[in-house]
Amino acid sequence: MTTVAFIGSGHIGGTLARLAVAAGYDVVLSNSRGPETLQELVGELGPKARAATAAEAAAAGDLVVVSVPLGAYRKVPVEPLAGKTVIDTNNYYPDRDGVFPELDAASTTSSELLQEHLPTSKVVKVFNNIYFVHLRALPRPPGAADRSALAVAGDDADAKAAVTTFLDRIGYDAVDAGTLADGWRYQPGTPAYGGLYAGETENFWESPGVPTAAATVQAKLDAAQR
Ligand SMILES: NC(=O)c1ccc[n+]([C@@H]2O[C@H](COP(=O)([O-])OP(=O)(O)OC[C@H]3O[C@@H](n4cnc5c(N)ncnc54)[C@H](OP(=O)(O)O)[C@@H]3O)[C@@H](O)[C@H]2O)c1
Repeated sequence: MTTVAFIGSGHIGGTLARLAVAAGYDVVLSNSRGPETLQELVGELGPKARAATAAEAAAAGDLVVVSVPLGAYRKVPVEPLAGKTVIDTNNYYPDRDGVFPELDAASTTSSELLQEHLPTSKVVKVFNNIYFVHLRALPRPPGAADRSALAVAGDDADAKAAVTTFLDRIGYDAVDAGTLADGWRYQPGTPAYGGLYAGETENFWESPGVPTAAATVQAKLDAAQR
């Protein structure tokens, strides 16, 4: 697996692209406005990066990251993602995304909505609960005492394994958080959302990021209540 593609190349997509290139992957970036608007980021990332349309990026990726405002999830191309592992970083914020009654009723999760939209893909939920500044600051080599872990949920074991390998290469351990239906355990408003990687400080936005081990992530997931 050598090419990681991005549907959405903003704060989280752009940060992951930087980590992926640093780990030796090729990356293909896309956004809503077209490849020409991504040339600055491509230039920063160097020869392992290029920009494309969302459909072209979806077709090019061995692993594809969807990192768009949730309200745009139905625009994610379906056919070129068939059979692929798709990382879902998205969260539901009604003020930004519009109201999704099924999410307000907690009868499903945002990742299950993306999985329904991409029925032939294998969606894995990860990176949604870490601020991009902390995501960029916390990678560590395998075995480092201060390595951080990220929750990974999905319905396909092979896809979760592929994402765990990707995490390891970019500098993170994984915690198995179950199926996509379990993804609510690290959605906005839960103990496992955001604050843990800031050291639970009241000055979240000023925190440079605090290493967070797998046991802490697991404890936060276990503490989630509906
Ligand atoms: N910011 C964080 O720290 C953070 C952390 C964890 C999870 N998240 C979640 O991750 C998702 C992305 O957040 P973000 O902060 O990275 O957002 P962002 O900086 O606003 O970036 C969003 C990206 O999605 C692209 N996009 C929008 N509609 C698209 C479409 N139809 N097709 C292709 N690309 C499209 C945008 O392209 P244009 O600019 O061309 O419109 C932009 O590149 C959100 O669901 C957010 O809740 C964010």
